[in-house]
Amino acid sequence: MDNKKMIAYNKSAWNLLAKDHYEVFKRRLEKDPVLLSDVIVKELGDIKGKKLIHLQCNVGQDTLSLANLGAEVTGVDLAPENIKYAKLLAEDFKIKADYVEADIMELDKLDLGKFDIVFTSEGAIGWLPDLNVWARAIRKLLKDDGFFYVNEIHPFFLMLDEEDYKNLRLTLKYPYFNREMDTGDWIGGYASDAKQAKCCDWMYSFSDIINPLIEAGLSIEYLHEHDTLCYRLGQMQEVAKSQYRFDEHKGKLPLGFSVKATIRK
Ligand SMILES: C[S@@+](CC[C@H](N)C(=O)[O-])C[C@H]1O[C@@H](n2cnc3c(N)ncnc32)[C@H](O)[C@@H]1O
Repeated sequence: MDNKKMIAYNKSAWNLLAKDHYEVFKRRLEKDPVLLSDVIVKELGDIKGKKLIHLQCNVGQDTLSLANLGAEVTGVDLAPENIKYAKLLAEDFKIKADYVEADIMELDKLDLGKFDIVFTSEGAIGWLPDLNVWARAIRKLLKDDGFFYVNEIHPFFLMLDEEDYKNLRLTLKYPYFNREMDTGDWIGGYASDAKQAKCCDWMYSFSDIINPLIEAGLSIEYLHEHDTLCYRLGQMQEVAKSQYRFDEHKGKLPLGFSVKATIRK
């Protein structure tokens, strides 16, 4: 199966979740104008007045959170239904946000201008078949003094069997190196009931993620590892806003990571 076909499957699959996500995140944004985790807010620093592009923005829940922190935001997503609901969500809250429907794998063919911050987070990069293309698109979007920020699920955690993990059993299910594309027949889970739909995802090691950024001309400012996950599994406790962990694993297991990178001078 070629990448285009796999992306087409993913587009149809994500379209199916858009309305549910819109309804869930609208309710959440009514209670809290910034849904981002404390870690992300702290690491991003002051973004007031910054031109920010949010890659894989879903229905724009985090894009609007970034706007509420003062950034001038543009969101990009593959699924037309996500873009439709992202625009509606922005209208509902009367927040200015631009949205672009695009495949990240094709992004370097578009001219979206230059940004102070390129942002992506929490369950995004595993949907992309080629991180070299991703990194080159990021480089192209950055202003000379801009930065790229990613906050993601840790590659170590992605080796584990999630079902066992819910019951505090650590079982290695997937290899760390040479991971292959995985196909599934269901999509959903984090803010929607699962729907039957063919979808494809990819798992990456740290070097798979970092080296394309370096090869695209970026310089890594930091790599932080976190013992918290961006979504709740089983009876995990919410130990900080939108950050989950089992008490038993405090300080022991890497569940998340973040990277800040700038253009290499
Ligand atoms: C788990 S969500 C993004 C995470 C986001 N932080 C959130 O909480 O919703 C993954 C998003 O990636 C988008 N996506 C998947 N493949 C893509 C691609 N090739 N180009 C652009 N967006 C893509 C999906 O439509 C979906 O909205």
